[in-house]
Amino acid sequence: MSTESVSAVPPPAEPGEPSSAPTRRTFIATTTAVGGAAVAGGVIGGSFLVGSEEAAAAPPASRVSLTVNGTRRTVTVDNRTSLLDLLREHFGLTGSKKGCDAGACGACTVLVDGQRHNACLTLAVRLEGAEVITIEGLADGDELHPLQQAFIDEDAFQCGYCTPGQIMSGVGCIKEGHTGSPEEIREWMSGNICRCGCYVKIVRAVEQTADRK
Ligand code: FES
Ligand code: FES
Repeated sequence: MSTESVSAVPPPAEPGEPSSAPTRRTFIATTTAVGGAAVAGGVIGGSFLVGSEEAAAAPPASRVSLTVNGTRRTVTVDNRTSLLDLLREHFGLTGSKKGCDAGACGACTVLVDGQRHNACLTLAVRLEGAEVITIEGLADGDELHPLQQAFIDEDAFQCGYCTPGQIMSGVGCIKEGHTGSPEEIREWMSGNICRCGCYVKIVRAVEQTADRK
């Protein structure tokens, strides 16, 4: 095999150097031989093999059952999975958006047991028995939720990326009763960023929906 050709026989010393001194060529030859042995044998003193086994071990996973938009779901997921990744990557519910993945933009807002949550900061495995509502679960069949309709009527979006989070947050804001004035709505919706700057119309849509209740 080719590993045999990478022997530890030192090449001739370079001019001007004592024959016992390590040269650039002997260093490279030795390093290559050691590397080749590690790859071919998979073990040097056993430590490399233990490391590779550890690296290959599956990460800790847990089973969780939760209700999403009225449907009971049971999955086994890596313990580090966020609710946002569970929704988007495992359940195919891509309405909740990943803006910052760090709790700073609100694009991932969903309702968990009726409360507003940043899905990117919520560990899925902690939601045993929880009821999750996402933007996909807001309409009643073909009939839009009043706040969804108000966003359309008020033209409260431009690119639309923040819109699912704005609407879910708006639903929570109305439910909480923080809609006494445009200022109060702004304050309680301040965790939802709109890079297109549609705030005036977003606040108006929330205000009108709250007034109709
Ligand atoms: S993606 Fe969750 S807050 Fe930005
Ligand atoms: S509509 Fe574009 S970020 Fe809000």
